[in-house]
Amino acid sequence: MNLEATEARPSTFVPKEVHVPGSFVLGHLPAFRGDRVAFFHELAQKGDYARLRIGLFPITLISSPELAHELLVTNPDAFVKSAGLAIFARPLLGDGLLTSEAGAHKKQRRMMAPVFVQKHIKAYADVMGERAFASAKRMAAERSVALGQELARTTLEIVAKTLFDAEVGFEATEIGDALTFAMEQMNRNITSVIPVPPQIPTPGNRKAKRAIERLDKTVMRLVAERRASGEARTDVLTLLLAARDEDGSQMTDREIRDESMTIFLAGHETTANAVTWALALLSRNPEIRARLVEEVTREVPGDAPIDFETAKRLPYAMRIFKEAMRLYPPAYILGRRALRDTSLSGVTLKKNRIVLVNIAGIHRRPELFPDPSRFDPDRFLPEREKALPRLAYMPFGAGPRVCIGNHFALLEGQILLATYARHVTLDLDPSEPMLADPLVTLRPRGEMRAKVTPLS
Ligand code: HEM
Repeated sequence: MNLEATEARPSTFVPKEVHVPGSFVLGHLPAFRGDRVAFFHELAQKGDYARLRIGLFPITLISSPELAHELLVTNPDAFVKSAGLAIFARPLLGDGLLTSEAGAHKKQRRMMAPVFVQKHIKAYADVMGERAFASAKRMAAERSVALGQELARTTLEIVAKTLFDAEVGFEATEIGDALTFAMEQMNRNITSVIPVPPQIPTPGNRKAKRAIERLDKTVMRLVAERRASGEARTDVLTLLLAARDEDGSQMTDREIRDESMTIFLAGHETTANAVTWALALLSRNPEIRARLVEEVTREVPGDAPIDFETAKRLPYAMRIFKEAMRLYPPAYILGRRALRDTSLSGVTLKKNRIVLVNIAGIHRRPELFPDPSRFDPDRFLPEREKALPRLAYMPFGAGPRVCIGNHFALLEGQILLATYARHVTLDLDPSEPMLADPLVTLRPRGEMRAKVTPLS
């Protein structure tokens, strides 16, 4: 990400409001429940922010990099995450990094930082390379593949192995099954017409509760076994057990459980979605795919899995992954709630006002990305990426809550794309539309079925 870039516009910036007529009773709810992403794109084309009403809830949607910067980087302490995630994700994530606030968040961020330093990411790259290779071989053995499902499986395997040094087969194991169910239930609860809090004992919620209890038991057992054995492995659990705060304090088992679940959840669905979109885009853009195959064939001789050092020689694969996340950012909106009356470049926000950052819309503003719908990985050539205005590109958010796994995710996406390009050609079924299902993350709609042609 371009942290040193210049302001998008001079400091005399006066944000332009977009006025959108809404219905008297429902406000802008119909647009939200319709093609939400198209609505967000449109709002960003027309101006910098909009005041909307979703049923009873007033929200302010911001679609400019300047306002996003003020919210996330200059003034983060005036906001907390909006209630949605905190309520719906708490049973699964507890008080992990994604859901915690203020002082607790700062402390956790300090404790978690060592897990994601380059030295360790290098070791995780070996896991990524091996699992990507296994996935490509699985694909090559079939005529066709449901990309969404295969990527969900592979990214879950990667995160399970890096986190616990555990093998997580997708269907069979306790962790994989229980986690998938609990996450799907969370998605269902958040996106139903009347959002259902997880405490209401619906059949789905009861089943999710049992799934989370199974997960808890498994994770707590892994933690207890590791503490008892004192064995050090090259996984995240070892690092969490060894983590010490400035005052020497350690994480409790419960804290380790919450952070592990957080990494599990935050660290796999987003990446799976991003890679699925990228593969779909490559299938629709054969000349770009051919350039990738050429890079990979040249730089990765033989059959060896791609590791950290090899990945450095694959800049085009990285540019493809970044450009795919510009067009289809898995975290397409970020939510915050104002803790007090405040203002962003003159846009007033009352206490408790929900603010959404329209990442999907910002990424398609034509003055930031000319011909914005075109898939053009060379937008991320180093000199062009450097010239982008600050926060014009922000798939990982920004400020103190920027994604802690961003380097992990970029490397994982790059390795997966390069590995597939080395071993298989994936052609999306022509009848498969590239439509999004904007749930908590921007998922592709349908299974994204692709024809597989193995490469020798
Ligand atoms: C393409 C993949 C990914 C995308 C697009 C993504 C996106 C994001 C975004 C936008 C945020 C900020 C949320 C906010 O400000 O409200 C975030 C936070 C976070 N992400 Fe990621 N992420 C990805 C992969 C990962 C991976 C691989 C991990 C871990 C292995 C991870 C762990 C986290 C955690 C723990 C947070 C919370 C950080 C905090 O609040 O301090 N993410 N992610």
